[in-house]
Amino acid sequence: MAAGKRRAPLVSLLLLVLSVVGFSSCFIGGGSYRRKLSVEWNPGLNSSVLPPHGITLLHVRALGLNDTLHFLLCSQGAPALLLVHTNSTSSSVKVDWPAFLARNTTGSLTVEPESSILYSSALVFTTLWEYDDVNDTADPQNLPPSAFLPPYQLQNFTWSLEDKTLDPTQPTAQLCGGDASPTFINGSFCVQFSAFEVEGRDHLWPSLVHTANCSQIKMWLDGPLPRANYSRFSLELESVGGPSLDRVEVVHSIDDEYTPSIFKASQWVSSPPNRTSEILGYVQWKPVAYRKPNPIFEDATPCRHYSPVLQSKAVPASGLVRAFYGPEPATTRLNISFSMAGEPFYNATNYLSWTVVVGLGNPPVDSFSPLVLSIMAVGLGTPMILIVLGGVYVCLRKRATPPSQSYEPIN
Ligand SMILES: *[C@@H]1O[C@H](CO)[C@@H](O)[C@H](O)[C@H]1NC(C)=O
Ligand SMILES: *[C@@H]1O[C@H](CO)[C@@H](O)[C@H](O)[C@H]1NC(C)=O
Ligand SMILES: *[C@@H]1O[C@H](CO)[C@@H](O)[C@H](O)[C@H]1NC(C)=O
Ligand SMILES: *[C@@H]1O[C@H](CO)[C@@H](O)[C@H](O)[C@H]1NC(C)=O
Ligand SMILES: *[C@@H]1O[C@H](CO)[C@@H](O)[C@H](O)[C@H]1NC(C)=O
Ligand SMILES: *[C@@H]1O[C@H](CO)[C@@H](O)[C@H](O)[C@H]1NC(C)=O
Ligand SMILES: *[C@@H]1O[C@H](CO)[C@@H](O)[C@H](O)[C@H]1NC(C)=O
Ligand SMILES: *[C@@H]1O[C@H](CO)[C@@H](O)[C@H](O)[C@H]1NC(C)=O
Ligand SMILES: *[C@@H]1O[C@H](CO)[C@@H](O)[C@H](O)[C@H]1NC(C)=O
Ligand SMILES: *[C@@H]1O[C@H](CO)[C@@H](O)[C@H](O)[C@H]1NC(C)=O
Ligand SMILES: *[C@@H]1O[C@H](CO)[C@@H](O)[C@H](O)[C@H]1NC(C)=O
Ligand SMILES: *[C@@H]1O[C@H](CO)[C@@H](O)[C@H](O)[C@H]1NC(C)=O
Repeated sequence: MAAGKRRAPLVSLLLLVLSVVGFSSCFIGGGSYRRKLSVEWNPGLNSSVLPPHGITLLHVRALGLNDTLHFLLCSQGAPALLLVHTNSTSSSVKVDWPAFLARNTTGSLTVEPESSILYSSALVFTTLWEYDDVNDTADPQNLPPSAFLPPYQLQNFTWSLEDKTLDPTQPTAQLCGGDASPTFINGSFCVQFSAFEVEGRDHLWPSLVHTANCSQIKMWLDGPLPRANYSRFSLELESVGGPSLDRVEVVHSIDDEYTPSIFKASQWVSSPPNRTSEILGYVQWKPVAYRKPNPIFEDATPCRHYSPVLQSKAVPASGLVRAFYGPEPATTRLNISFSMAGEPFYNATNYLSWTVVVGLGNPPVDSFSPLVLSIMAVGLGTPMILIVLGGVYVCLRKRATPPSQSYEPIN
């Protein structure tokens, strides 16, 4: 009796220690790799000689101890993010503006010295497809061409690039565009880019993990009117450069605290040659889109990806990408479709948002949240502690009381 009463505070103390260990390991394991960020608009443009023609180029330099990561975003052609990793801390972006503005000159944008480039790749948002899902399958790849409305070619949109930075450790820019079609008059397609000094995650869903080695792109469609009675959308992405991103891996998790009801992450990566080298770059997302700007649980809608397709002679839809890679680099394209059979159609909110992170090295891994860690610590720890303490207690009692004594009453 007395021993049982004394054990209770001991168990609580041990649980507390376990939870503290759980919490701190979560923060320590969070990766503290840091880069120094600096932002440059229209690098090297002498506006007294060349008017910018409304074209803006954003350059974010992410300086590491030994290396530099350059992020480039431009309002020319389809929205695209170019990522260049160099082994030098003094590499720089050079733009031959007259040639760059002519939109068609290979080598008009370079990162120098060229010998310092370790890796480069670009992600382009090429086409927004709209289809009339009369049979509610939400599976555009298996629909007849007649179900599709004329696609929105994003390279034909008029774009404007704006600085939206609120926090200097997280430079953010927003590229919004539209075309003159009557359905798009009051709507826009936007792409928001952010880079990060250190690892963290957004407070807004899907709260993807981001690191100093990646950038986040959130895209949304706000207000365009549906052109069919049962409109749904899908989006085509293009990856250029690097080893071709030719497969999508799906990673499962048991924790959905950061992205409610989503237990998976999809990552578009390159097949490592002969399974020796590590993954060089990736595009990662969670298979969820949101139907409202400030979503609640009911506004989440699943999305699905289709197999990446290698394109042999594709002209990149982005002027920035053509300027860096030339007219016919190796490209891979991939479709993402939003929503599922049985989910509301696009007209329910006329809004859709989806987020990816694009980066260097291996894709970030979703760590357990402190809450889940402490639940696991309590769930797994309590029985262990009880077993150990029980064992110790039994041992101590056996030792404390000589065997002769305990058998006495029986005799
Ligand atoms: C821009 O061009 C003008 C005319 O050629 C020149 O005088 C000026 O120094 C240039 N400015 C910069 C920042 O290069
Ligand atoms: C810088 O790179 C060299 C060679 O790649 C490596 O030996 C060194 O550890 C790196 N230094 C830091 C601080 O990362
Ligand atoms: C692109 O450049 C080529 C040759 O440099 C030229 O023939 C062609 O007309 C240009 N296209 C555009 C759209 O400017
Ligand atoms: C960067 O890489 C190039 C090519 O691999 C090499 O020639 C150069 O020495 C490297 N520079 C540094 C600072 O490691
Ligand atoms: C819808 O289903 C009907 C009946 O199964 C089929 O005949 C029709 O082709 C389908 N329409 C589309 C657009 O898939
Ligand atoms: C969109 O751009 C492409 C390539 O520049 C062109 O072939 C196509 O005709 C354009 N479409 C519209 C609707 O302007
Ligand atoms: C766009 O918005 C304006 C002002 O709010 C409105 O007058 C117009 O009817 C709208 N156009 C469409 C196509 O919804
Ligand atoms: C970021 O990249 C650098 C250089 O490649 C590497 O040393 C570091 O471990 C990476 N950090 C993370 C969090 O991936
Ligand atoms: C859309 O629905 C309206 C009203 O139900 C109908 O009149 C119209 O024909 C439909 N349009 C299409 C393309 O099916
Ligand atoms: C969306 O379209 C469907 C099919 O035409 C219709 O039944 C539904 O009422 C529409 N929803 C809204 C919010 O307009
Ligand atoms: C990968 O394997 C192929 C044959 O299977 C070989 O020809 C090639 O050299 C290997 N590449 C590397 C980087 O080991
Ligand atoms: C994406 O979907 C559209 C419409 O179904 C199709 O025409 C296109 O070929 C698809 N692209 C890829 C890369 O699968």
